[in-house]
Amino acid sequence: MTRPDRYAVFGHPIKHSQSPRIHALFAAQTGQDLIYTAEDVPPERFESQVREFFDGGGRGLNCTVPLKELAWRLADSRSERAERARAVNTLALRDDGSVFGDNTDGIGLLRDLRDNLGLNLAGARILILGAGGATRGILAPLLAERPARLVIANRTVATAETLAAEFGDLGPVEGCGFAALAGHRFDLILNATAASLSGELPPLPADALAPGGSCYDLAYASEPTPFARWGREKHAVVSADGIGMLVEQAAEAFLLWRGVRPETRPVIETLEAERRAAK
Ligand code: ATR
Repeated sequence: MTRPDRYAVFGHPIKHSQSPRIHALFAAQTGQDLIYTAEDVPPERFESQVREFFDGGGRGLNCTVPLKELAWRLADSRSERAERARAVNTLALRDDGSVFGDNTDGIGLLRDLRDNLGLNLAGARILILGAGGATRGILAPLLAERPARLVIANRTVATAETLAAEFGDLGPVEGCGFAALAGHRFDLILNATAASLSGELPPLPADALAPGGSCYDLAYASEPTPFARWGREKHAVVSADGIGMLVEQAAEAFLLWRGVRPETRPVIETLEAERRAAK
């Protein structure tokens, strides 16, 4: 009997990861025989654990916070989108034994915003809160949708300005601090700060959301995040958290590893139903 192919997500912490559940649902749906586990791997053990995993027969890895930059460094070759993001969330073992790095976060977000939530980004005024790794991973695909403007607001202003300058060749992107947002309106506000994880809300002007605008939190939790709640209070047409993005980025990783793209909608619906049932 052949043993199922092995996959895993590495992160630190990793306890609440939904990835094993998502990949199990994908495997069942597409009839693929595989095992996918979650492993707590601190940065200092990342490289040795990756080597051990692949040497032991593992086929592919997802890497999450705080390991995406280390995964980018470790990969022998990388996709263009991973290169631009300077971060890797998906590693795949090639037949020649080399490790390929990809970044499926940006396309995952785009698929959720555009295909699942029906948002039109062309000509939109987009605001991204935060200028860390999460923002870096989504800038190129967002700019490819040709928004009218894309503003990155960050607590540390210089980080936002540097990031905007780095992506300036791809479209109209500006960096600033939260105070500079006063008087500006946006059709789509994305929260890519780590604030949600600690139950905090970034310091946004109350009227930053344009009438008819939408809010999206890249983070997700069992309860609506403070930012998703803010969006609802401001009558956002859509105010969603990152569960759809999580499923979509996973589907792209699954495609890279297995050559089939699972259907995401039933999986998103299952996770949302489970979340409601857990309350
Ligand atoms: P990630 O890889 O998830 O993006 P990161 O690189 O540590 O994580 O970046 C975290 C982002 O959240 C940063 O933009 C950070 O702002 P600073 O650059 O000023 O540190 C932002 N952030 C974290 N906690 C925040 C809070 N309570 N309010 C506003 N921004 C916050």
